Amino acid sequence: MKDSLLHRLLLGPDESALTGFFLSAMGHADRITFNHSVMVAQLAETLCDAMRLNGKTPEIVLAALLHDIGKIGIEGRFLAHNGPLEPDEQQALRAHTTLGGQALARMFERDTVTLVARHHHERYDGKGYPAGLSGGEIPLAARIVGLVDAYDAIRASRPYSPPCTHDDAVARLVSGRGTHFDPVVIDAFAKSDRQVAQAYDQIRTEPAYLGARTDRRAPPATGPLN
Ligand SMILES: [Fe+2]
Repeated sequence: MKDSLLHRLLLGPDESALTGFFLSAMGHADRITFNHSVMVAQLAETLCDAMRLNGKTPEIVLAALLHDIGKIGIEGRFLAHNGPLEPDEQQALRAHTTLGGQALARMFERDTVTLVARHHHERYDGKGYPAGLSGGEIPLAARIVGLVDAYDAIRASRPYSPPCTHDDAVARLVSGRGTHFDPVVIDAFAKSDRQVAQAYDQIRTEPAYLGARTDRRAPPATGPLN
């Protein structure tokens, strides 16, 4: 992953002080969300490459890295929850989209970063949140990040769900074609699913990301990615 955009954002000369500040805040507040964000950024880069987005890719990768920044404002007990959330807890957790969008809008001039934080939980059929946008109303970058976000969430072992294999995760995502996910984006994802699996497996075994990041911005890693 040495040549990846993610590598440059986390460790290289392209890192901005602003991005570093946000990542540091997230790393201190919530290790699970930080590791998830690193993974989603790498998977977004893989999918953008498969879709040949070229010039748009760096901004989408940065947006993916910061997409859950609004969770800094959410109580940890919701994020490490063992069972279904109560309606008021669910509402509080969902607010990470608007909170993140507001925070980033004040700091970044780039629309993509703000739009992805705000809209990565929208659904293609309009049944997502926070705005209930549908189809092409949802920014393309948010459709891409939303899909790889769901992939990592499905595959991850969390207190409230067992881990899932790559093939099972792809099958679950493809079943949401045209309802949850943009058909164009899910088709590109399914076509490049081997590269996605490779990126996922590789970054889970790359101590360079968490190790180097630990030296510069965050407390020591206490466990494996996820
Ligand atoms: Fe999220």
